[in-house]
Amino acid sequence: MTDQAPVTYAGPPRVLSGVQPSGALHLGNYLGALVKFTRLQHEIDTFIFVADLHAITVWQDPAALAQQTREIAAAYIASGLDPDKATIFPQSAVREHAELSWIFNCVARLGWLDRMTQFKEKSGKHKERSSVGLYTYPVLQAADILVYKATHVPVGEDQKQHLELTRDIAQKFNHDFNAPGFFPLPDPLIQGPGARVMSLRDGSAKMSKSDPSDYSRINLTDDADTIAAKIKKARTDPEPLPETIEDLAARAEADNLVGIFAALAGKTKAEVLAEYAGKGFGTFKPALAELAVEKLAPVGEKMRGLLGDPAVLDAILAKGAEKAREAAAPTLAEVKKLVGFWGA
Ligand code: TRP
Repeated sequence: MTDQAPVTYAGPPRVLSGVQPSGALHLGNYLGALVKFTRLQHEIDTFIFVADLHAITVWQDPAALAQQTREIAAAYIASGLDPDKATIFPQSAVREHAELSWIFNCVARLGWLDRMTQFKEKSGKHKERSSVGLYTYPVLQAADILVYKATHVPVGEDQKQHLELTRDIAQKFNHDFNAPGFFPLPDPLIQGPGARVMSLRDGSAKMSKSDPSDYSRINLTDDADTIAAKIKKARTDPEPLPETIEDLAARAEADNLVGIFAALAGKTKAEVLAEYAGKGFGTFKPALAELAVEKLAPVGEKMRGLLGDPAVLDAILAKGAEKAREAAAPTLAEVKKLVGFWGA
């Protein structure tokens, strides 16, 4: 460290995020994550990966995992992520994630991890039967972010606590190894509550891949007829749409459909209401179905096209992994030196 070493992080801004390859993607992932990534790639250096190391914290069928990874990558690209702009890669192809994660396991404190609510939810009543990986999951997440010195992390509300842990790890590392400003303290970019997509069957539950009813969600791979049928069957109330957002708030299902319309159309909910106030769902649902088909059916089609030619997709991922390694390796080399490892 020289005397001039900055106390706070002085590096360039960088975005990083990832999605686990552990199930089909739906409209909630599309509006909450993928569209956001696509927008960010034009503004900041952007790294988007497929979190396959995280996926195996719960059992994944080895015969299916690589294909699930390709599916997420196909969804990224079909949603508009451009491999020439953003760095798109599978997490397991960049060994620096796992290597830094071990060092961070020795920085993070048991007490910090004991507070993580997601582990409590995911492990349920049988904590002792969970994998150790599920417990240290947020430490790996911190390594994902900090190995690229990412400064901004677009995530859902449920990941806020993991971002706080990432900041704690960064801060303690910088302090313990006398390296002020070495790691940034990354900020979450949380989607606004308006962008939260709820189940089509129950306006109080998040749209989720684990909901047993396929009619609760629109999958990115649904074809036009399925998308339209699901919107037609979506739960609503008998009232026409109101004039104001306040009057919509108590009507969870109506609110959700208006929110989906707004997000797909790139409008505000108020603008949607200005157009549809006083109209019933007999009018609104067909309009929403048409919009959803117009926006989502091409994404599904593009995904199917990409998955039909895995060689092209695999080449994109291999190139992305190479770019990611080039960015991650210098961080790890510096970390090893700071920790005092032989040969570093
Ligand atoms: N835990 C995240 C989720 O379930 C996925 C993830 C893993 C991630 N590593 C990350 C997100 C790093 C952002 C940054 O949504």
